[in-house]
Amino acid sequence: MTDKKASLLIEGHDNVDFPIYEGTIGPDVIDVRSLTSKGFFTYDPGFVSTAACESKITYIDGNQGILLHRGYPIDQLASESDYLETCYLLLKGELPNKAQKEEFVETIRYHTMVHDQINNLFKGFRRDAHPMAIMCGVVGALSAFYHDTLDITDERQREISAMRLIAKIPTLAAMSYKYSIGQPFIYPDNELDYSANFLHMMFGTPCEKSNISPVLAKAMDRIFLLHADHEQNASTSTVRLTGSTGANPYACIAAGIAALWGPSHGGANEAVLEMLEEIGDESRIDEFVAKAKDKADPFRLMGFGHRVYKNFDPRAKVMKETADEVLKELGLEDDPLLKIAKRLEQIALEDPYFIEKKLYPNVDFYSGIILKALGIPTSMFTVIFAVGRTVGWISHWNEMISGDYRIGRPRQLYTGAPQRDFVKVEDR
Ligand code: SDX
Repeated sequence: MTDKKASLLIEGHDNVDFPIYEGTIGPDVIDVRSLTSKGFFTYDPGFVSTAACESKITYIDGNQGILLHRGYPIDQLASESDYLETCYLLLKGELPNKAQKEEFVETIRYHTMVHDQINNLFKGFRRDAHPMAIMCGVVGALSAFYHDTLDITDERQREISAMRLIAKIPTLAAMSYKYSIGQPFIYPDNELDYSANFLHMMFGTPCEKSNISPVLAKAMDRIFLLHADHEQNASTSTVRLTGSTGANPYACIAAGIAALWGPSHGGANEAVLEMLEEIGDESRIDEFVAKAKDKADPFRLMGFGHRVYKNFDPRAKVMKETADEVLKELGLEDDPLLKIAKRLEQIALEDPYFIEKKLYPNVDFYSGIILKALGIPTSMFTVIFAVGRTVGWISHWNEMISGDYRIGRPRQLYTGAPQRDFVKVEDR
């Protein structure tokens, strides 16, 4: 709180003063909660100028292209840390010491298996079900298996739910893939670290021992890390709003998965690959850039633009470096889609339309190229995003539930019919 205030002069009304709060870094906020007592609402469709909560987890500066997790820059975490250590940081607020990290990693390792009855849930889906549809259903159903951790007022139960979700989401994700290709589910292997274990469950078979490349496992781990959290994005805000009603954590994460699925959000990585494949050749790039600029054409350059970043998405830079590393490791430096992506980025960044609208590649632009090189099918790309983001969702949920919060209930500008009397059908 500061003693700074904002004054609003509304015609025909007395001045209205609002308190201003300062954050550690970033814009101050104006507390407008008292406005309803003056008979007004604020109006901010899409929440472009609305801070919905206070948080200590992640900070983004869209103009500087800065992303901090509990104060640590994403590029340092991507090069120095790993996904589970970043999970600990997001959940608990500090980097773990050696003993804390070992305990956390072991706890996750020994909770990766799911209840065997959950296997039956998959059998209700058609084999061609989109894996995100399966994930929405199966993650939401977890609350039916864990009655022992549904008291959200109990800190220990909240912690157990968080660990279960982080540990089991990769297992469920791999199961949704295996189900779609008619292969048997592969159990987690406690000899493998988190990301190698995921690749094992995705591509292993009962017929032979998995041989996971450490380079590819590291790339998978970095992809999870780069997707871990991103402040109050659409899916995280969905998790918070769902959690504000007192819903159980599994239902909240299922709501986050559903929100992430949209092509404007987490579904963009799948849409980027489909777009690059549709472009097909560098000679067609100009045609697609023209479509993206044409107001009459709904086509957008997928993987470009961001509500907050009006500079480079710092995750996209790391993702681009990782794409080069992975494709080199796989001998795919000449991958045609990567060449189209790099040329498309170069053309777009030189085009006045994209420069004026500050449209830069976002986290989704290069991730799909890496995932495709890892052998992950396009339909699984958003599932991978959900696996990485689960820790961010549950960290925000826990931050909210462990503090003071109220049920989220926005208002509206009503432009519908004024009150009128009912007319019997014979008189209409
Ligand atoms: C993620 O919020 C997060 O943090 C999300 C995320 C996370 O980690 O959680 O970072 C993950 O969702 C990344 C974004 C992935 N989505 C895409 O790549 C889809 C393509 N991008 C867009 O649809 C769009 O840029 C959004 C949805 C990302 C942002 O939309 P905004 O902030 O509402 O911006 P806008 O739609 O108002 O666009 C502003 C202008 C418009 O033109 P005008 O009406 O001003 O003339 O820019 C244009 C748009 O038409 N524009 C694009 C464009 N994105 C915006 N034009 C062409 N191609 C694009 N990609």
